Amino acid sequence: MSFDLMMDRTSELFRRCFGHAPRWIVAAPGRVNLIGEHTDYNDGFVLPMAIERYIVIAGDTNTKREVTLHSVTPGETATFNIRPKVEPGAPSWSNYVRGVIAGFQKSGKKLPAFDAVIESNLPYGGGLASSAALEVAAATLLELMTGQTLDPIEKAVLCQQAEHDFAGVPCGIMDQFTSILGRENHALLLDCRSRTTTPVALTNPDVTVLIINTNIRHKLAEGEYAKRRAQCETAARVLQVAALRDATLEALEAARKQLEPVVFRRAHHVISENERTLQAARAIQASDWTRVGQLMSASHASLRDNYEVSCPELDLVVEVAQQIGEAGGVIGCRMTGGGFGGCVVSLVKTGAVQRITRNLDVAYEKKTGRQASIFSSRPAAGARILKSS
Ligand code: GLA
Repeated sequence: MSFDLMMDRTSELFRRCFGHAPRWIVAAPGRVNLIGEHTDYNDGFVLPMAIERYIVIAGDTNTKREVTLHSVTPGETATFNIRPKVEPGAPSWSNYVRGVIAGFQKSGKKLPAFDAVIESNLPYGGGLASSAALEVAAATLLELMTGQTLDPIEKAVLCQQAEHDFAGVPCGIMDQFTSILGRENHALLLDCRSRTTTPVALTNPDVTVLIINTNIRHKLAEGEYAKRRAQCETAARVLQVAALRDATLEALEAARKQLEPVVFRRAHHVISENERTLQAARAIQASDWTRVGQLMSASHASLRDNYEVSCPELDLVVEVAQQIGEAGGVIGCRMTGGGFGGCVVSLVKTGAVQRITRNLDVAYEKKTGRQASIFSSRPAAGARILKSS
């Protein structure tokens, strides 16, 4: 669905639900991470880009005490009191918005009750940061409602906190940051400690970012995410560093005997992934695509073997893409996002997109009996206001 069509549909639906046109419409993009996985909560480096897939919210204040949210994709409506303060509740997707409202309330901002319609062309739970996009879209709407624009980093932290407190996922800052600060035609090399970004141009028309959704979502994912984070913190304590960002592979090797083998492997992934991310940013800047491909392959292998967040379906897509190889137009590929399902990201030669898509589609269905969803995206700009009246 095109962006304009989505905006019109959301506006029209708002009118049907609430009897008048929305006063505001906002959009926030999802993201795909090119490399730098499970490094953000270790104060490390990531290299994501915002994608041309969005959550759109149309909204207006009401004179009641209640917020009403209608979400098109699950076809559900959430209604809850905004005063004295918002609490977590059902349905579960509403917690991303509730958490953002709570963040505004905590900082002393007075919020009126409001009505909203939420539309999306971003696959839910596909590792493309749909929850962050919902939080960021909600925060953008609340900025309009309060007339106060937040500093972008403060806004990202507020959205991240919403996810920690209202969805129970101790995520890093990458997703919310990218959904806010995404830049057209650029990936962002983000230093998650200093929270500074270096834009990395992705303007070569011969290179396309392809996203392959396995349409698999494993339930264990969320508990496993928290477990990984705790293992990283254990490793950092043993290595006596503030975060694994500060550790080297030599120091890790020297401490091998003090670490459980599983904790050693987790730390090995994070420390080596930080290095790969910095190298990949440099390789993209130098148009050294062969090197970018090698780094993406090494990242996937490390996530599969050391961090253990891949799954057979992700591995299968990566294997098929690797078999197609550079000669067939595949520059690089790896799982992207938190893992345990979701998407593979692949850099491919633009002229080969259709053939690669067909090959991956056929191979995936043949081996799994399931359909993959494959699409390409240019790097997109971050959250934006579509209507304010
Ligand atoms: C999820 C989290 C991010 C990040 C990735 C893994 O998307 O929300 O903060 O940790 O997993 O890189």
